[in-house]
Amino acid sequence: MSKPVGTAAERLAIQLRGVGLRFGVKSVLHDLDLDVGLGQKVAVVGPSGVGKSTILRLLAGLLLPCKGRLSLHGQQQIYLREDQDKPMDVRMVFQSPALLASLSVAENVGFLLRRSRRLSPADIRTRVSRVLEEVGLKGVEDLMPGQLSGGMQKRVSFARAIVEDPTADTSHPPLLLFDEPTAGLDPVACTRIEDMIVKTTEFAEGTAVVVSHVMSTIRRTADHVVMLYGGCAQWYGSVEGFEVTDNPYVRQFRSASLQGPMQPELT
Ligand SMILES: Nc1ncnc2c1ncn2[C@@H]1O[C@H](COP(=O)(O)OP(=O)(O)O)[C@@H](O)[C@H]1O
Ligand SMILES: [Mg+2]
Repeated sequence: MSKPVGTAAERLAIQLRGVGLRFGVKSVLHDLDLDVGLGQKVAVVGPSGVGKSTILRLLAGLLLPCKGRLSLHGQQQIYLREDQDKPMDVRMVFQSPALLASLSVAENVGFLLRRSRRLSPADIRTRVSRVLEEVGLKGVEDLMPGQLSGGMQKRVSFARAIVEDPTADTSHPPLLLFDEPTAGLDPVACTRIEDMIVKTTEFAEGTAVVVSHVMSTIRRTADHVVMLYGGCAQWYGSVEGFEVTDNPYVRQFRSASLQGPMQPELT
């Protein structure tokens, strides 16, 4: 395997070098290298339990690497430091919509905006309505999450992710993270969500990392793919390359075969 995996893009949005992460005695990532250029859209694939969500949580600053270096826009991320500058603008769409049941749709979407002293309630309302319209949900501001269908809740979670965080560092384009956005959806619902990923990433003019097992989602939302197994990147390349490479890990993933270097997690 050649390493480090990477990109020819001139400016990097994400750079991981030798990143390792363990939970207690369990080592999940050993030696992960990954470069993602500004404005690129990268799909992260690999079997369940391989550490895909863990990578998103590292990028979002919700977890700290145990070793190695993680830089966003050329700045090494050192979390939890009191003198840290504004946090990078990183927005995450979790696998489940994760809306707060006791808050209205508008309050859920505008949650971060309320941290800003600069924005009046009317400003917040305007911004929230704009992003809700962007995801095709006009006029649901005052409904409670429980009054919405699952698909609509998912779209609210997209709106929450694209609303601009006024406390974040906006000197760089945002990083958008999507965790298995189309898992378990029917094909038409998949297409709608895939369109939304493309649209929200373009709307935010951001760089996207999409964790997915779904081939249509990989094709329609990403330009590059990283194949993860055994705590590191086993393959990286264009989506077109992913469809044809004879890398044994990618081949096994594409053919959903039990034969190959990847064994299912026995837990
Ligand atoms: N907070 C945690 N504490 C202990 N183990 C965890 C924790 N989060 C994830 N893991 C373990 O780390 C491994 C990778 O998890 P995850 O990144 O969620 O996998 P994936 O998203 O690829 O399915 C799994 O074996 C999981 O059980
Ligand atoms: Mg996961």
